[in-house]
Amino acid sequence: MPPAEALRIARAFLPERWWGNRTLYYYSRAKLRTDPLYPGVIEALRGTSLPVLDVGCGIGLLAHALRAQGLSMAYRGVDIDAPKIGEARRGAARAGLHEVAFDVVDVEDGLPAHHGSVAVLDVLQFVPPDMQADVVAQAIDRVAPGGRLVIRTGLDDGSTRARTTRRIDVLSRVLHWMPSAPKGYPNPDALRAQFERAGLRATFTPLFGNTPFNNWRIVAARD
Ligand SMILES: C[S@@+](CC[C@H](N)C(=O)[O-])C[C@H]1O[C@@H](n2cnc3c(N)ncnc32)[C@H](O)[C@@H]1O
Repeated sequence: MPPAEALRIARAFLPERWWGNRTLYYYSRAKLRTDPLYPGVIEALRGTSLPVLDVGCGIGLLAHALRAQGLSMAYRGVDIDAPKIGEARRGAARAGLHEVAFDVVDVEDGLPAHHGSVAVLDVLQFVPPDMQADVVAQAIDRVAPGGRLVIRTGLDDGSTRARTTRRIDVLSRVLHWMPSAPKGYPNPDALRAQFERAGLRATFTPLFGNTPFNNWRIVAARD
């Protein structure tokens, strides 16, 4: 994303007072500038107008990125982390985003009712591996004709990148870098078979950016 756009969005996460904590401001500015995630999702959703459910939305950066690119479909973000949902609500209100809502939801308890497009971005790895297929199935069920399912995830495809991803995850766990460590990544063949069974066309595109991670964008749609 162009630096000026990233800066404009990140300003919504500045603290109320000048001495407040600027972590979210710096995080969102860097993430929006450097991560190919949001341009990749916007490319997949452009031309659609159905509401978007953003599963594991964090602080809701996708909502800001959509509006910055003129995509005005209704947006609902859900995340297990209540403080992040609080920040997401505050940031969206500060930026004056319309038709945007955020709720605390644990996807392990089931996805909320929805009919439209669904985004699941960098979330599957935090769901226990034996529940990932169910989360994907629930996301598929919520995709309407004309909608898109957009997933970004690491893939357990036996590649050098997949091994590097796993090593970095183990290291992060040991060093307690991340509050919750990834639990595992889906197998691409199993995912492809699941989309096929559900009658969805899916395209898998590498979305590594400048990272060592084995990140992929998956876009699935009903025929
Ligand atoms: C790496 S962040 C990605 C945030 C956002 N999707 C993005 O791309 O900017 C992973 C998010 O998944 C959320 N998450 C993890 N487990 C979850 C669960 N069981 N239910 C809902 N959200 C969950 C975390 O709270 C976190 O905000």
